[in-house]
Amino acid sequence: MIPVSRFQKTLLEWHDNYGRKNLPWQHNPSPYRVWVSEIMLQQTQVTTVIPYYLRFMDTFPDVQSLASANLDDVLALWAGLGYYTRARNLHRAAQKIVSGFDGRFPDTPDQLASLPGIGRSTAGAIVSLAFNQPAPMLDGNVKRLWCRLHDIQTWPGESNTEKRLWQLSEKYLPHSHCRQYTQALMDFGATLCTRTKPKCSACPLRQHCSAYRNGTVPLIPVKKPASIKPVKNSYWLILQRDSGQFYLLKHPPAGIWGGMWAFPQWQSRHALESYCLRHDIDLQRIQWLNKQRHTFTHFHLDFTPAVYTGPLSTLEIREDSGQWHHFAGSLPAMPAPVKKLVQKLANGSMG
Ligand code: ADE
Repeated sequence: MIPVSRFQKTLLEWHDNYGRKNLPWQHNPSPYRVWVSEIMLQQTQVTTVIPYYLRFMDTFPDVQSLASANLDDVLALWAGLGYYTRARNLHRAAQKIVSGFDGRFPDTPDQLASLPGIGRSTAGAIVSLAFNQPAPMLDGNVKRLWCRLHDIQTWPGESNTEKRLWQLSEKYLPHSHCRQYTQALMDFGATLCTRTKPKCSACPLRQHCSAYRNGTVPLIPVKKPASIKPVKNSYWLILQRDSGQFYLLKHPPAGIWGGMWAFPQWQSRHALESYCLRHDIDLQRIQWLNKQRHTFTHFHLDFTPAVYTGPLSTLEIREDSGQWHHFAGSLPAMPAPVKKLVQKLANGSMG
């Protein structure tokens, strides 16, 4: 097995030559800037994150401005990035930092991991990248690197395997150059030791890599044992009136779309239609669009839009949380599939 100091040296040298050193959050890596970037990067790729990150920093340049912001404004800036719980947690954590830590940014993995949305790995990344202190991290890229280096042929999410992987993160951790080392680990996994088509011929660790030696690189990381995602059905009523207005409801704060705006929806076509009958909405004037699928981590959402165009004069919509919006106006925070549909309707390209 490669000696620890050799591993560190090799990785740092590789980073000197090939690592990413010009990402926006690497300039002035304040704890706040690093934290926001790490949250955005948890489930989203660097190239997608960059414009969102720059806009977010323009609007909320520090933890105080984020803490005092309106959640709707935070969600609106997040719209399109997905996994909106991240934005809600970011907002709540900012308030906790301002109220509970005197506005001083927490600087230990334990303190950081006590905040909403920050797990052990993100806490380690923030401590090393922002404070340049030794703290282990273990994201998907690093898991893959350890699994290949040690030819670990079990699923990395399985608890014994994960425990072993954390031990490796701790074992290889240096006590100086912490920032560069952590960035190097992530970059190495993201650009060289990639999931598909890893660049083994350019890898400075190749002669120490057990998977390379054993010819098992393409098999690692081992996949999660298959689990079948449940399917939830949903029927969306798109009410349009006048010139280009449509009706949206605001979801209550908890839940997968908490705080965001979406079309009124039901779990069955029958429930949607009986709502229409009760509200004098003529079913003949409804155009049913094709069923579409949006996949979340834990389930598939199959939704069928029902577009109503016609008079609504007698209709009084009772939901307090509903509002009319204009296709051409400024749009509120909407989940990705709702936003996509709104754009299609606005372009007149439904199908
Ligand atoms: N993914 C997660 N954190 C990252 C970082 N700091 N730089 C590049 N990719 C990342």
